[in-house]
Amino acid sequence: MFTTALHTPVMLAEVIQYLACKRGGTYVDCTVGLGGHSEAVLREIGPEGSLIGLDRDDHALQLARERLTNGRRIKLFHENFKNLPLVLKNLHVSGVDGILLDLGVSSLQLMSPQRGFSFAIESPLDMRMDTTQKLTAADLVRQLSEKELADVFFKYGEEGKSRRIARRIVETRATEPIVTTGQLARIVESVAGFVNRHIHPATRVFQALRIAVNNELGNLKNFIGDAVSFLKAGGRMVAISFHSLEDRIVKTEFNLLGGKCVCFRPAEECSCPKKQVVRLLTRKPVRPTEEEVHRNPRSRSARLRSVEKL
Ligand SMILES: C[S@@+](CC[C@H](N)C(=O)[O-])C[C@H]1O[C@@H](n2cnc3c(N)ncnc32)[C@H](O)[C@@H]1O
Repeated sequence: MFTTALHTPVMLAEVIQYLACKRGGTYVDCTVGLGGHSEAVLREIGPEGSLIGLDRDDHALQLARERLTNGRRIKLFHENFKNLPLVLKNLHVSGVDGILLDLGVSSLQLMSPQRGFSFAIESPLDMRMDTTQKLTAADLVRQLSEKELADVFFKYGEEGKSRRIARRIVETRATEPIVTTGQLARIVESVAGFVNRHIHPATRVFQALRIAVNNELGNLKNFIGDAVSFLKAGGRMVAISFHSLEDRIVKTEFNLLGGKCVCFRPAEECSCPKKQVVRLLTRKPVRPTEEEVHRNPRSRSARLRSVEKL
């Protein structure tokens, strides 16, 4: 299988620029996916360097393993990145030179006919990144109350018609179980219609369900501080996010670690630690070039932020 054809790594040149990999260094790729970024990091760190790679998708990891473990110093783990502290502890690694986080879904996941991430492909309504997890998108659509569904669509999808869509789902499931991507896409279409012919009306609902099924924001929230605590002085972290909810978390956590106030309350009420442990390398998110967006439209919403440990 040609992994390069299954997922094109996003903002590869910028990732390498901001990670500023040291030859012989130790690096962590928290979201190995198909291994595109990992492959470039391995090239930069040379044969003396080592890479620790994590992904919660075992299928992607198997493909990455074939691509990357050419006798080189790489250890791959089927793990949620929130367990990175435990992984490093088990490996007796106390400090690393760089950490990469490339959030969201891979093209492999989106395009896989059985995984249920895309409204464009008729498949079971699944959306689990980790297929050993029990909860699927169909479970949420079946179990959540009308209000809970509307909240998920609004909070994680910023979907303006969240309540009407939730109501239609509850009406429909009273007579037939909603178990496929096509069924859900048609329900959303029947409520929301096509406002913009470039964006399918179910885009936001699918994004929201995916975030909820995989607890994407929950995993991210406490993780960045934990990860940065493993960086050596001068070590760098690079995070790429694909929607504003993720980017907001990355920005807030980086600012907090950069010693800034993130609550914006008056000084006497502020309880932000204001203890600087990193230097912000990107005041504003770095965006892909026009050329990259043209070549790989999936990169268009990418935002890269980076910090360096003091
Ligand atoms: C955009 S892809 C990464 C692509 C990769 N950088 C490459 O070059 O091929 C995102 C990957 O992150 C993984 N992922 C998302 N959340 C995760 C988590 N909490 N823990 C581990 N892996 C996660 C997904 O399974 C997916 O494979």
